[in-house]
Amino acid sequence: MSGIHFGIDFGNTNTSVVQLTTDAKGTKYTVLADSVPSLLAIRRNDSGDVLFGRQVKFRRQQLTEEYEIISSFKSLLGTGATKRIDGKEISAIELTARLLHELKDHIRQQTGMDIDNATFSIPVDFTSRQRRELREAAGIAGITVNSFVSESTAAYVGCLDDIRHYSKVAVFDWGGGTLDISVLEKVGTELKELAKRGQNLGGDDIDRILANKIHVGLAEKHGFGSFDSMPARDRDYLLERCEIAKIELSEEDLTRLNLVSYGGVSSNKSLSINEFRDLIIPEVKRAAQLLEETLNLAGCYAQLDAILMVGGSSNIRAIRQLFEMSFEPRNIHVVYSEKDVQVAAAKGAAWLDSVPSAYRLQQTIGVLMSDQVIHPLLDVGETVPCDSGEVRFSLIEESTSANIIIVDKNGRRLCVDTLPVKGFLTEAINIRATVDEDLNAVIQMYSTHRPEDVRRQVLPSIELSYDLEVKPEIKPMNFVRSKRDNICSYRDCNGMVYRDGYCRYHFRYEKAASK
Ligand SMILES: Nc1ncnc2c1ncn2[C@@H]1O[C@H](COP(=O)(O)OP(=O)(O)OP(=O)(O)O)[C@@H](O)[C@H]1O
Ligand SMILES: [Mg+2]
Repeated sequence: MSGIHFGIDFGNTNTSVVQLTTDAKGTKYTVLADSVPSLLAIRRNDSGDVLFGRQVKFRRQQLTEEYEIISSFKSLLGTGATKRIDGKEISAIELTARLLHELKDHIRQQTGMDIDNATFSIPVDFTSRQRRELREAAGIAGITVNSFVSESTAAYVGCLDDIRHYSKVAVFDWGGGTLDISVLEKVGTELKELAKRGQNLGGDDIDRILANKIHVGLAEKHGFGSFDSMPARDRDYLLERCEIAKIELSEEDLTRLNLVSYGGVSSNKSLSINEFRDLIIPEVKRAAQLLEETLNLAGCYAQLDAILMVGGSSNIRAIRQLFEMSFEPRNIHVVYSEKDVQVAAAKGAAWLDSVPSAYRLQQTIGVLMSDQVIHPLLDVGETVPCDSGEVRFSLIEESTSANIIIVDKNGRRLCVDTLPVKGFLTEAINIRATVDEDLNAVIQMYSTHRPEDVRRQVLPSIELSYDLEVKPEIKPMNFVRSKRDNICSYRDCNGMVYRDGYCRYHFRYEKAASK
């Protein structure tokens, strides 16, 4: 429990990195990157010129002519998607590696820290392919992934101070690209993930809905085609203006959307909080529905103590009001982690990197025998990664096929396969179950008379609990930010960061400049 650990919350919109240092004096967190925009701009002329983070966010319009701008990296991973830049196809893995490389460089320049290993927080429904590709991309960027943790679980750990008194908590992490929900229970010093669900629904979708509405109004008047047919520069501009309007409506009842040049025309529209709410209510309801489903899955609706709301999109007033109305009367507290909300997941990931924590199987994976007895291959409580080794079963009758039924401890079927066999009683069936570090649960089986015919099945979902020591004494003693990152990014300004890396004055100034 001593040394330096890093947690990276690699968000669709923003990325945060937290360092945790533990020594005899205690534990100290340092924010190395505070919500740096997950954006990369690669110059099209093959010069190797790359811009990153805020440099891209605030110059996006100017850059579109000469640079290819890449965003939403996590949604590209695992899809086989590539970007064509200067006639060259660049894979999602390579693009992600470039982004992480820039992030690493940025942190080295700002703080002198070199990150070579970390725990990453990821969306709850990140597929094993996405995990593998992110691991590979991080490796190319020189960062070894020590482990992955769900963003919502990491946020829970990062906000532990706010929820220490509750036992069962649902974490509602609504970001730019995804909604991640974990239901967690603290039992003694152990934290159990009772259920988790995710959906590709986030602030980017809300921006697009608003942009579409504004576009339709203008299209009627000025004869534009569809939103998607507009030049990329115009689309980006409108989306950015809509994001600012959306953020303003989290605090104010009315906002103005001033467009200097969209499709060559300028316009000015005011938008009220009620209009905005009506527009996004289907998305808000979808988000609430996912929470209901996750609570039902966890089987603990009645005993839930609190809902912890994190992620930028949790600031949207419609979702806050809906949750307060439906949960507070039932004595379920809606908790907003006001401080450090943007870095909560990174902070949690850094902590998880430092403590002896592990995923453990919460269910048995076994073989259903002909007498209906379950022979376990992997048992409840095994630490992931785990491997049953080859377990040998024999046939009880001469047959040309063997039905293999893999079940959990309650006999619920996890997978079924029919293995062609030669039909000898002397024949054995070898079955092996493994759960790898990326949480892929795989069953492999073959008959000794046909060793070349190995069947492989990936179990669709396995239940895991995150087994972690929640000791009050490792509560953070200090929470400091790397000085440079807490200072306004505007030239020589030394003001404290208010939002998006700018002080209160320059945040507004930059907004005005981009109008
Ligand atoms: N005050 C606010 N009101 C409404 N939306 C906001 C506010 N602040 C930020 N957002 C939105 O939150 C989103 C970014 O949130 P966050 O930084 O949690 O996402 P992320 O972690 O990068 O994304 P993901 O978790 O999906 O990978 C953006 O869509 C942004 O517009
Ligand atoms: Mg996030």
